[in-house]
Amino acid sequence: MSEKIDRLHDAAEAVRACAKEIGDCMKGTDDPVPHKARIVAAIERLLRRDDLREIGSPRKTSHANGSWILYYDPKLMIVLGDRRNDMGDTDPHNHGAWIATSVYAGQVRYRSYARTDDRKTAGKAQLQLSEDRILNAGEVALSGAVPHDIHQVNRLSDTYNLMIVTGGYLPGTREYYDVENGTYEVRPAD
Ligand SMILES: [Fe+2]
Repeated sequence: MSEKIDRLHDAAEAVRACAKEIGDCMKGTDDPVPHKARIVAAIERLLRRDDLREIGSPRKTSHANGSWILYYDPKLMIVLGDRRNDMGDTDPHNHGAWIATSVYAGQVRYRSYARTDDRKTAGKAQLQLSEDRILNAGEVALSGAVPHDIHQVNRLSDTYNLMIVTGGYLPGTREYYDVENGTYEVRPAD
């Protein structure tokens, strides 16, 4: 095999190792927070590779120049997104599944929210900011467990981000929140 194929195979193995470590942490639980240190370390290791752009399978997206699936199983998906264009800020939204947000190249502002209402009134939601930080290349942020998986990621420069999204990722819809007014609307997922 050529040197390049060997190297890309190593990259794919590194992706699988990251997925396995996260999968091991999440056996029997939907709450990533108690395993934060291990999950973050696994993703940080993956971010150190400089060849992740070469191994993904392209997927459709409406929020980026490009998006590539690096890993998929029914519980876990690792996606690299090219955010070199500015397609505007996203509103805070959920996925119905916890996610890890990380930066492969560039810089983003990351915010996450805890949901503090009883979720009994359609269209209404009270959110509390739980994290508001700048993520630089190599850095990772973890959402809470559902329903505290609400997040907002806004690019501050040309960026490639690496998202780890978990089981239940494709529910078809997401809730987009208006934090100040305490409301949300349901829109199709991208
Ligand atoms: Fe998102």
